[in-house]
Amino acid sequence: MPGLSDATRGRLLFGGDYNPEQWPEETRHEDVRLMKAAGVNSVTLGVFSWSTLEPEPGAREFGLMNTLMDLMHEHAIGVVLATPTASPPPWMGRLHPDTLPVTEDGRTEWWGGRQHFSHSSATYRRYAAAITEDLAARYGGHPALTMWHINNEYCTYDYGDQAAAAFRRWLRAKYRTLDALNEAWGTAFWSQGYDTWDGILPPRLPHYLRNPGQVLDFRRFTSDMLLECFTAERDIVRRHSPHTPVTSNFMPLWSGQDAWRWAGEEDVVSVDLYPDPRDPLGAQSGALVQDMTRSQARGPWMLMEQAAGPVNWRGVNHPKPRGLNRLWSLQAVARGADAVCYFQWRQSRQGAEKFHSGMVGHAGEEGRTHQEIKRLGADLARIAPEVSGRHVTARIAVLHDWDAWWAGAQDGRPSSRMEYPDVLRAWHRALWQAHLVTDFAHPLHDLTPYAMVVVPQLYALTDAAVDHLLAYVRQGGTLVCGFQTGVADEDDRIRPGGMDARLRELFGIRTLHEWWPLEEGETAACEGFHGTLWSEELEGDGTADETLPYEGGELDGLPAVLRKGRAWYVSTLPEPEALRDLLARIAAGAGVRPVLDGLPGQVEAVRRGEVLFVLNHDREPVTVEVPGTHRDLLTGTDVTGRITLGRYGAAVLRP
Ligand code: GLA
Repeated sequence: MPGLSDATRGRLLFGGDYNPEQWPEETRHEDVRLMKAAGVNSVTLGVFSWSTLEPEPGAREFGLMNTLMDLMHEHAIGVVLATPTASPPPWMGRLHPDTLPVTEDGRTEWWGGRQHFSHSSATYRRYAAAITEDLAARYGGHPALTMWHINNEYCTYDYGDQAAAAFRRWLRAKYRTLDALNEAWGTAFWSQGYDTWDGILPPRLPHYLRNPGQVLDFRRFTSDMLLECFTAERDIVRRHSPHTPVTSNFMPLWSGQDAWRWAGEEDVVSVDLYPDPRDPLGAQSGALVQDMTRSQARGPWMLMEQAAGPVNWRGVNHPKPRGLNRLWSLQAVARGADAVCYFQWRQSRQGAEKFHSGMVGHAGEEGRTHQEIKRLGADLARIAPEVSGRHVTARIAVLHDWDAWWAGAQDGRPSSRMEYPDVLRAWHRALWQAHLVTDFAHPLHDLTPYAMVVVPQLYALTDAAVDHLLAYVRQGGTLVCGFQTGVADEDDRIRPGGMDARLRELFGIRTLHEWWPLEEGETAACEGFHGTLWSEELEGDGTADETLPYEGGELDGLPAVLRKGRAWYVSTLPEPEALRDLLARIAAGAGVRPVLDGLPGQVEAVRRGEVLFVLNHDREPVTVEVPGTHRDLLTGTDVTGRITLGRYGAAVLRP
């Protein structure tokens, strides 16, 4: 199978979405001049070009695309060619209303925006296959082509009649009998038993709470339907260009796609990443997505989109202060990216995203944003030979699973304040702040490469996953589990005792009496720290080697944290510094050390291959001890013993 290295060929890809259908011809020549000057070596064409390519049903207008492909080739700029299927032309919805998705409350999503397609519509799929076929036949052998980009950020839901029919087919294949479905969904409660498959609907808006089993299966079904759309187009382009890698860009930590499964179907794993420049935790949330994408890719990955400056979809859209775009781009490379790309090359003057930045903003070539892009292009070219294709090695894995997320994220739960992504972020952030580099893994992945496995929260676990965790600990691994782990099985059926019995035994818990979720601002005092968000009334079975008790209140004296051998259970969300210190202590016990000792909090250090990235996420300069002598690939100078990094400064050090 082809991979990212077939597109990079030892370089780091640098560029972005290029949508020149918006511009007059002379702008294209200006674009190419600026691209060359900035070191751009990759553009993504055609992401939203469907109505240009197929202005009326069945018509084909490839003139502009021919010109662009040839122009890019002439200038040695590779093309990531997109299938345009994320935004069907207006004629499709007008002539074929069955291609339009329907929301949970029965509203049609009309054309006039984008992503207005029903994954279950045979008509949509037929048109999508036809345009993909013709694009692939025409450009599959074009010398500018480096990669296929299928659709864009697959993210649609459909609750309409076609989706209902597809959902029933999906359910029949899964359950075979209605009895099995009724049992799995627990339909005996609230008189929901089905007597015919035709009675089953997507979980449309009901009077009160929905059936959780139905919702869970609908999320699985939706991810599968979108995946079918992806693989159908992927298989077409592969037929025409078997040596060209195929990707589709994920949204970061997006709940709608089981990205573990999806990644297995892609040649290149790519993601779009837009942390808020004003968010003090922006670098940390970026690191999480980068670690997750690298883990899905099992190696180098592609940053398909980021913003050179502001986006236009937050309430208040802040530009990136001087230096931040470079810093966050180098952070992505440090954490395994072999491509640093943007939405989009030239900022639009019209359309819904005219206030979204581009690599060339409205201020043009002289604008600060573009000047910084140029500098970044030069930096990436300098470091590429030493980092492209290299791996990041982590000795800690954080477990994450979409199924568990979907099962746990439903209405009618103990606390609507508890959001799975927030819990995941809090734990990853604690590890990030302890300067510990982490992979992510699915609960059934091979965990033997890791000295420590961290489970922030896996509400639902299959029996096989529980076995896997137990075996990991038996074989000498250190396991740290957060609250609400192992509560339910794969059908979202609560385990007897409120938590899997084998896990309770693993941690030394006899009885989980009650969950005690905490209100906003409320904390639970524990020995040495405060817990937030959640607490639990646990009774130990006397086998734990160490316990940290709750202090005061209803839970006074009961265990907040238990350790039995190498298995830890944390029944609350410790405040950030406390969680950081706890995980640093456990990691040290497991023999896992940070990349550099004594790092200040705002400095990130990651080793990729032989190369050490040191990144200052602060506006104030900082001096960092770096033992030995290194060559800073960014400046070409030698560094011995210590290095001073300026505002948002970075060093890329080769021993
Ligand atoms: C997504 C899309 C792009 C663009 C950006 C704006 O990532 O893929 O087309 O809309 O958001 O941030």
